[in-house]
Order: sequence, then structure tokens, then C-alpha cells
Amino acid sequence: MTSSLQTDQLWWRDAVVYQIYPRSFADGNGDGIGDLRGIIQRLDHIERLGVDAIWLSPIYPSPMKDFGYDVADYCDVDPVFGTLDDVDELIAGLHERGIRLVLDWVPNHTSSAHPWFVAARSSRDDPKRDWYVWRDTPADGSPPTNWMAAFNGVPAWTHDDVTDQSWLHCFLPDQPDLNWANPEVEAAMQNTLRFWLDRGVDGFRADVVNFIGKGTDVEDLPDELAIAPLLATDRPLGHELLRRIRALLDGYEQHPMMVGEVYLLRPGESASYLGTPEAPELHLSFDFRSVHTDWGPEALHRTIGAIQHDFAEPAWPTWVLSNHDKQRHRSRYGSDEHARAAAVMSLTVRGTPFLYAGEELGLTDGDVPPERVVDPHDRDGCRAPIPWTSDGDHETGHGWGDSPWLPFPTNASTHSLDVQEDDPTSILALYRRLLELRRATPALRSGAMELHPLDGDLIRWERTEGDDRWTVLVNAGTEPRPLPIDLGPVEVVLSSVVDAGDMTQLAPLGAMVLHHG
Ligand code: GLC
Ligand code: CA
Repeated sequence: MTSSLQTDQLWWRDAVVYQIYPRSFADGNGDGIGDLRGIIQRLDHIERLGVDAIWLSPIYPSPMKDFGYDVADYCDVDPVFGTLDDVDELIAGLHERGIRLVLDWVPNHTSSAHPWFVAARSSRDDPKRDWYVWRDTPADGSPPTNWMAAFNGVPAWTHDDVTDQSWLHCFLPDQPDLNWANPEVEAAMQNTLRFWLDRGVDGFRADVVNFIGKGTDVEDLPDELAIAPLLATDRPLGHELLRRIRALLDGYEQHPMMVGEVYLLRPGESASYLGTPEAPELHLSFDFRSVHTDWGPEALHRTIGAIQHDFAEPAWPTWVLSNHDKQRHRSRYGSDEHARAAAVMSLTVRGTPFLYAGEELGLTDGDVPPERVVDPHDRDGCRAPIPWTSDGDHETGHGWGDSPWLPFPTNASTHSLDVQEDDPTSILALYRRLLELRRATPALRSGAMELHPLDGDLIRWERTEGDDRWTVLVNAGTEPRPLPIDLGPVEVVLSSVVDAGDMTQLAPLGAMVLHHG
């Protein structure tokens, strides 16, 4: 690792993180599935975009029932993605470019093919039995508690004939939940973090991390909560475990960051996983209210305000609009103009933005016919492969050979990288300009933020660092708007609108970044 990357303890506050779903990013060996070689080949694109870190969805050996979120070995690489040597090469290539690597870490459950579960399931007396959560199956064969799994509307319990008990799985039956109340589990899982930190990894995204705190506390929930225990379960043990994980991370000289997938949507819940300055937990915690907000002035204004409120100093928010679990925001919002305005919003609100690879191209979801569906939870559309070139149709080409694992985004031919690469009006050019501006402007990166009251369809906020003052305007409506009269002397530094023309007006769905003179 280069020394410049080692000095900055708070790098994750200033960073823009780029999420790569490895199966869908770039295919290095032509088998139709993205891999580490493909990512290495595309490092120039990532560097030119200007992001500070990449987060890879899981690359570990896996039966791929949940495409890698069912981990069979936390300390190796699935052959479909490459080898440990490829990871070392990727780390070196990233660090040379001043970019950090964040891996996905899946602590709540393993794959049922993990040797730990294979042992646990072999007998009630196995030393690893208690590494998972077992309950006697009631005589009538019903599940031990009313918990429902997150996928497919089935109970979160499956009966095991061999040992005549049921195991808990909050996702697929092939993803048994670990019992984090067992200190051996905690120690073994901490070792998986050490394995990657020793290899030079810079941080982790921790999958459904609030859920490790349930331990074996899995009693019946009120019916309305039992449908989705994951969204409702917040236990003191989780915080305690995270404080110890934080201490482990803080012992490493690369200042590793952990961002948690905390899928709790009530006010303050996600932020509570940051702990306190005296007893820190996660560095960053996703707040998915942004992903759950439809386009519209009131809704966006409310969400921006709520997240800023919950993550006031000394906390620090994240901002995320798309990921590998949700329809892309370009598709949700409906047009290129929306996506361009959203780019300005994401990259200028206070917080660490997480971009989902392909959003810089303005990609839509793929249209996946029933016979091509592979995901157990209907998330194939947002996992459509990235179109690197325009030549191809919905099923083939675009730099992926004859049989990519999923169909392409519906706008692949018009929004591929090669079409946008040198076009100054492209959404890619807009993302690059925004990232460059952020990098050059402490106020936009780390400055204080003040959100103005909503003014019709106009969302407005200021970012300041010392005397340096910036205003961002987003016209979330469909009518043009004159700029507010109380702005004072300003320079329009950037607009989301192609051919913005008259700079005294904000076009429908337009966004502007203004510098106060
Ligand atoms: C998280 C992941 C999702 C996965 C689930 C189970 O929500 O983002 O892709 O299916 O956890 O690991
Ligand atoms: Ca491949």
C-alpha cells in the first residue's frame, strides 16, 4: 500500500465509493460472468471517473444460491471470479491509482455448504452445533417461531431430518443464521476480517449487520413484525459486537472503514449503529430511506432533511440511490433528466456517496423475461451486465461475448461506455465533472450543510467551509423556474441540463451548483 493512502484516518468521510457487482461488471475470460480480471482491465474507467474506493459484492467461494451472499469460505475466492492472486493484483492496481478496496462481509449467515454448518448439522453433539440457531420442531411439524424469511414468503425455519430440529435462516434455507451469542463464532468471524486486512484490504461493507445482535433471541414477534424480522430487530448485543469489531479495525494502520447495511427504516435507527465518539461502532451506516423515496419535491426534501438530522455531527451520513437489490434509480425515476439531477444531488449533499456501477452511464434495469430469471428474490433487472460497447442487442455483445449471464439494460446501445466516453454532454461527463469539482472543493466534500425550506418544487441547500459558500438547487418539478432572487452574486459552476442556455432559469428536472462570490 502506498503511504499516501495510509495517512488519512477519516478518508471515508471524504470518499466517493463505487459499488461493483462482480458478476455484472466486466468479463475477463469470456464465460459470460464478470470476474476480477475484468475489473482489473477496467481500472482506467474507474480511475477516470474519479472515485476514491470500490466496494465489491461477495467474491468468496459460494454455491451461488444468493449469488455470493451464501458464503462457503470467507477466506478464498470463487473460481468463477478468479484467485487470491487476482485480488492481490487488484489491490496493487487500485492502490497505485490512489483507490481503496472495500469487500463485502456477510456476518449474519453462511452458506449451508460452509464446513461450519456441515459440521453443525451432522449431530446434536457436534462442537459446532451451537454456532447456528436450532430449535425443536413442534410435534405438528410447524415452525418453532412465527419468523418469516426475507425471500419467497416462507418460514425462517427449516426442519432437519438427521438431527430432528429446525435451523433458523432469515433468508434462503441455504443461508443458515450464525449464532453470534457464541464467543467462538465471534472469534472465528473476527479472524475472517483479519485475513483480508492483512492482505491490504481497506474496509468492509457488512451485510445486514444489525441482525447479528439477535444471537439466539428469536422468540415469537408480534404478527406484523414477524413478516420481516430483519426490519424490526435491533438488539443491544449487536452494538456490543460492533464495538469489538471497531476495536479490531482500529488496530490496523490502513484505517479500515466498515459501512453497515442497516436495514432499519425508522428515524434514528440506522444512525444508532455508529455508536458514540467514546464507544464507536460502524464508521458509516446506510440509511435506505433514500432508496425508498420516490422522485418528488416534498418526498426528496423530507428524506434529505431526515437523514441530515439523524446523522448530524459528529455522525456522518451516507447517500445511496441504487444498489444490487433495488431497481436502478434511472428506471425508478423515469428519464435521463431525472438521473442527471440525481447525480448532482448525490454528489453534493453532505455525506459519503455510494454509486452503483453503471449509474454513471445512466443505465436502466434490464428487462428479464420469466425464462431468464435466476435470482430467488426478483433482483435480476438491476444486475444487468454493464454495456462497454454499443454493438450488441439485449442478449449478446456489448463487450460480453455471446452469452452473458443476464440480459443487458434496456438502454445499453445508447448508453454504453464507448458512446459516452468522449461526449461532453453525456451523463458520464457530468459524473466526472461532479467528482472533479467535489475533489477540488472542501465545502462540497466535507463542509456544513444547511437545507432551506422547500420552495414550491425547488429544493435548495448550502454547503460552507470557512468563507467558501456554495448553493445547490434542484428543480424537482416539471416547470422551468427562475433562480431565487435572494441568492446574491453567484457563479453557475455546473448544471445538470444539456445546453442549459439561459442561466437565470432552472429547467424542469434541472439541478445547478452555484458558487457565491
Ligand atoms: C443483503 C444483500 C442481499 C442479500 C441479503 C442476504 O440484503 O444486499 O443481496 O441477498 O443481504 O445476504
Ligand atoms: Ca468470466
